[in-house]
Amino acid sequence: MDKNNPIVLFDSGVGGLTIAKEVMSEFPNEDIIYFGDTAHLPYGSRPQTEVRRFAFEIIDYFLKLEAKLVIIACNTATAAGLKAAQKRFEVPIIGPIKPGVREATLATTNNKIGVIATEGTIESGVYQRALQTQSANVEVYAQACPKFIPLVEAGELYSQKTKQIAQYYLASLVKEEIDTLLLGCTHFPYLRKVLKEVVGESVNLIYPGRGIALQVRDILESKALLNSNQIKGKREFYISNLDKLSAKFVKLGKEFLNFKELNFKELDLWSG
Ligand code: DGL
Repeated sequence: MDKNNPIVLFDSGVGGLTIAKEVMSEFPNEDIIYFGDTAHLPYGSRPQTEVRRFAFEIIDYFLKLEAKLVIIACNTATAAGLKAAQKRFEVPIIGPIKPGVREATLATTNNKIGVIATEGTIESGVYQRALQTQSANVEVYAQACPKFIPLVEAGELYSQKTKQIAQYYLASLVKEEIDTLLLGCTHFPYLRKVLKEVVGESVNLIYPGRGIALQVRDILESKALLNSNQIKGKREFYISNLDKLSAKFVKLGKEFLNFKELNFKELDLWSG
């Protein structure tokens, strides 16, 4: 494996950029490729077997381009296929569930943790199990929030409609007096402002971007795969259906992520 090879991140859409942001800022000299599978979005309402197949096909494609490390920047695909992917492919593959769980259990003081994610992730029970394994005393309040994904993709990051939906989804978690809310979907950090307004300033919002970046560093260091170039790494952004990209998202997402540019090209892995 060549240490100049790229790091690849993928998600069903623009959600995984919340992880890409942290990885890009931690590794300015690495070449980093982002892929959003907007042709198949949302993943959260699809059967796990189908999501796993998409994930394998995406990983296969980028291994042909010699990715040195793959980040599944999507909780739904991580729940559906991280373990199977780690068995099947030789390259290091990581996902956001473990680092988020670790951080949430460290952050809570009253041991009441809320976790919000897609239906696929919540129904898999992966967060509920992982949180309880990490800390036997925690009470976990899980809530699927599928409507958040199209709202984020449409750039509705701060709207009244988004706030009303958040109030509806989070009412029972607020009632239970959670002190920590784990964002178990990479689309949700974009809603940080609205979520804070709904759950209250004092509730810890946890999402694992930084944790993932540190995990990437550990892996690359231990395998002597850190790029030693002093020149700025390439950044490439692809999505499988460009028609699904909203101009409003690009404007607000770019600000949120603090990216100077956010130019996507279409890459349909499934055509031809
Ligand atoms: N961003 C994804 C996640 O972290 C999935 C959103 C979706 O396509 O349903 O779960």
